[in-house]
Amino acid sequence: MSQPQLGRRRPLARQPCGAPGLALLALLTLPLAAGADCPCPEPELCRPIRHRPDFEVFVFDVGQKTWKSYDWSQITTVAIFGKYDSELMCYAHSRGARVVLKGDVSLKDIIDPTFRASWIAQKLDLAKTQYMDGINIDIEQEVDCSSPEYDALTALVKETTDSFHREIEGSQVTFDVAWSPKNIDRRCYNYTGIADACDFLFVMSYDEQSQVWSECIAAANAPYNQTLTGYNDYIKMGINPKKLVMGVPWYGYDYTCLNLSQDHVCTIAKVPFRGAPCSDAAGHQVPYKMIMKQMNSSISGNQWDKDQQAPYYNYKDPAGHFHQVWYDNPRSISLKAAYIQNYGLRGIGMWNANCLDYSGDAVAKQQTEEMWNALKLKLQG
Ligand SMILES: *[C@@H]1O[C@H](CO)[C@@H](O)[C@H](O)[C@H]1NC(C)=O
Ligand SMILES: *[C@@H]1O[C@H](CO)[C@@H](O)[C@H](O)[C@H]1NC(C)=O
Ligand SMILES: *[C@@H]1O[C@H](CO)[C@@H](O)[C@H](O)[C@H]1NC(C)=O
Ligand SMILES: *[C@@H]1O[C@H](CO)[C@@H](O)[C@H](O)[C@H]1NC(C)=O
Repeated sequence: MSQPQLGRRRPLARQPCGAPGLALLALLTLPLAAGADCPCPEPELCRPIRHRPDFEVFVFDVGQKTWKSYDWSQITTVAIFGKYDSELMCYAHSRGARVVLKGDVSLKDIIDPTFRASWIAQKLDLAKTQYMDGINIDIEQEVDCSSPEYDALTALVKETTDSFHREIEGSQVTFDVAWSPKNIDRRCYNYTGIADACDFLFVMSYDEQSQVWSECIAAANAPYNQTLTGYNDYIKMGINPKKLVMGVPWYGYDYTCLNLSQDHVCTIAKVPFRGAPCSDAAGHQVPYKMIMKQMNSSISGNQWDKDQQAPYYNYKDPAGHFHQVWYDNPRSISLKAAYIQNYGLRGIGMWNANCLDYSGDAVAKQQTEEMWNALKLKLQG
């Protein structure tokens, strides 16, 4: 039942908050774009962005036209994980923001240097044809520390960066990593090597219950302490904080409780993941916009967990089962974002921007604005 989710690992994910993967469609429409002139109202909007911002606000977009309502005063990069949209590219460029491709490849293929070179050439060609400014490499596959994939992955990142930097002026190459470098989900990567080889790492500080080794109970998607421990560990291993962008979730997890105790402990089904007895795959992802709509009909009201510094609520479904929903809101996000300054990180970003309600409804509009504002750094004290 939870099988589809076991294949996930964000940001690839199951795209809970947007369009289904339209990669095939993008491929089909590509020949039309190839060789065509700049699609923007002004030809200069097709030029790559060269400006280097002091602070990154890195946004994942999964499709549709909600991008028109994003807070463009903050955005520095948009990673296109849905269908390519030239209107989005033109608009982003008009706001000085980069637009980058998604890069995903099967790791067993990239052991072959020839395959790597052709993969990179193909991505570079796609980026140029679509007037894009780089690539976000999203490999969330399992790697054994002593496998040939280990070094091949570092080589792939290095070669991709060299090619992009050489061929597209000012281009950006980034790599998505788990919330901690400690072999999360059996991803043994050369983190220092990869960080050196690209512009920066996007740290996916979410799905932090992907491997639950203790009690099988529902818990926060991105608990405060656990999240910050991850950054400490990346920095301790020698990665420059300026190579780290903090990724926060704009989605939560809905867990069906096997039992919900008086003090709100929700026992969940045992769904193993990569060696761990339980995981967040026992729940399903829900976008912030849906959470905000559902919260009003909860049986608990909005609750705040002091240990995890995260909000949650309980509700009863029509079949009579209890659920517990854990998520992030402006309060939990600002607490984590405050540490960006303390650690001197490169910036912030989210999976994904489409998760908010852009309908224009007055209540929703306020909630959406508050989520975007939570990305702005607040001085502590
Ligand atoms: C990581 O990659 C760098 C650059 O290729 C290399 O110098 C280093 O030895 C690698 N580290 C490990 C632990 O393999
Ligand atoms: C299940 O929840 C009920 C109601 O809160 C509680 O009394 C009971 O101790 C719980 N059972 C277990 C096994 O945790
Ligand atoms: C939730 O209920 C409150 C109080 O009745 C109301 O002001 C608010 O608009 C509701 N929120 C949503 C999203 O319906
Ligand atoms: C979180 O970390 C702080 C500082 O290390 C510690 O004092 C606190 O007990 C931790 N809280 C939890 C719930 O682990």
